[in-house]
Amino acid sequence: MREALRREIISSLEIQARVDELGRQITHDYQGRQLVLLGVLNGAFVFAADLCRAIALDLEIDFIRVASYGTASKSSGKIRLLKEPSIELTGKDVLLVEDIVDTGTTMAWMLEHFGQSGADTVRICTLIDKTERRRVPVTAAYIGFSLDQGFLVGYGLDYGEKYRNLPAIYTLQVE
Ligand code: IMP
Ligand code: MG
Repeated sequence: MREALRREIISSLEIQARVDELGRQITHDYQGRQLVLLGVLNGAFVFAADLCRAIALDLEIDFIRVASYGTASKSSGKIRLLKEPSIELTGKDVLLVEDIVDTGTTMAWMLEHFGQSGADTVRICTLIDKTERRRVPVTAAYIGFSLDQGFLVGYGLDYGEKYRNLPAIYTLQVE
């Protein structure tokens, strides 16, 4: 990997404030429902950890893992579930927690997959909605930040498995 240049675009304080807002909104919307947060590994582990603590409901949380064949910065569209949730989803309200929706391929596949799980509702909460490369029309019910382009790292987002631990979000310019 060559030298990469990064520039902060969303500060850790901005992320915190937005995650708290999303948490309040979700708390309001899922009153009296059986909320299950399904974090998508690895990218969403940081976001899911903060988001679940901003929601004041008796929720359940689990993680799933998908494999999409592609390069470090682009997914290919072929998707497979590597880890199923261990929680029963029948009759529950599933909220898929994702770090970023880019082409939409991954989320479209998951909506379809978990749509057949017996869950009452299946919706998406994404930290970042990146619209420029959208190929499959998916709409997230909850969006942290909307951006049209750029390759982002930090707060769970990686480039070749690096930078996930950065507390803010950065654009990465790869030479
Ligand atoms: P999609 O299927 O194209 O929507 O891709 C979603 C997945 O691609 C995300 O879960 C990320 O793992 C990865 N991805 C897409 N854009 C970025 C980015 O800007 N930074 C880091 N990962 C990204
Ligand atoms: Mg990734």
